[in-house]
Amino acid sequence: MRWVVLGARGMLGTDLVGLLDERGADVRALGRADVDVTDPGAVAAAVAGADVVVNCAAWTAVDAAEAQEPAAFAVNAVGAAHVARAARRAGARTVHVSTDYVFDGASTEPYAEDAPCAPRSAYGRTKLAGEWAVRAEDPRHLVVRTAWLYGAHGPCFPRTIARVAAERGAVAVVTDQVGQPTWTADVARLLVALVDADAPAGTYHATSSGRASWFEFAREVVAAAGLDPALVGPTTTAEFPRPAPRPASSVLGHDALARAGVAPIGDWAERWRLAAPGVLAGG
Ligand SMILES: NC(=O)c1ccc[n+]([C@@H]2O[C@H](COP(=O)([O-])OP(=O)(O)OC[C@H]3O[C@@H](n4cnc5c(N)ncnc54)[C@H](OP(=O)(O)O)[C@@H]3O)[C@@H](O)[C@H]2O)c1
Repeated sequence: MRWVVLGARGMLGTDLVGLLDERGADVRALGRADVDVTDPGAVAAAVAGADVVVNCAAWTAVDAAEAQEPAAFAVNAVGAAHVARAARRAGARTVHVSTDYVFDGASTEPYAEDAPCAPRSAYGRTKLAGEWAVRAEDPRHLVVRTAWLYGAHGPCFPRTIARVAAERGAVAVVTDQVGQPTWTADVARLLVALVDADAPAGTYHATSSGRASWFEFAREVVAAAGLDPALVGPTTTAEFPRPAPRPASSVLGHDALARAGVAPIGDWAERWRLAAPGVLAGG
């Protein structure tokens, strides 16, 4: 099986390439400097001979996308279309990574894979357009939504919170946004498991199970960093206005994984305890 990973130097891409390397897979790891997904010719050349093409490349600056939606669209929607078209033409399967931001975040129930999408941010709109482009271009697609990612190879919530708590002795974190903190290493394993299982084309959710607020997660993070969890104080979204609205609920359901016979990631708190040493020490 020949793999091509685009966006291979990002937080998720780095863990995916590491996992494939560990497994002795034939993998071509391409960062933005190697292949820009907005360049269809470069993408087509890069995926020649591949069996699986994983698109981890994305414009992920959620707030900046509000003022630069066309630029975000060029990567997240048009770039995704280039990847899926080139993969299909090469006879490869597209694995495309998407986000909980395609939903409105208003539901108190977990979002099913086929729940109506209603993004509230420019980033979410561009990612939703990317999902549709991938579905249209590659009938064998796997669109895999994830959320609340943390990992050892990029800036992420736990590392920021641990640093701020240590430096300032206090940090305020919102109690009114809930989701499923998810380790990039777990998402990488799930992407590979979906391909290994030859999962039916469609949309899957790659998040931990359970739910937590950012506040609850921050307390676990600070405890794992060897600090007093009471350094984390509560605040609300209204007190922290940002350019892009954040979903109040990013809890995703995992029924499609069960139907495909692929094991879900597991409870967020258990996964965090396993991930914490490597993530907090990460470079
Ligand atoms: N992080 C989260 O919490 C989260 C949540 C839900 C979904 N996701 C999705 O998960 C996927 C991976 O995200 P991540 O957290 O690993 O983000 P990341 O660390 O920002 O990685 C994205 C990578 O894409 C690269 N990239 C940007 N524009 C590109 C282009 N035009 N051509 C090729 N590569 C380009 C970036 O390179 P540069 O750094 O050089 O720009 C970066 O290395 C994305 O699809 C994202 O939307 C992430």
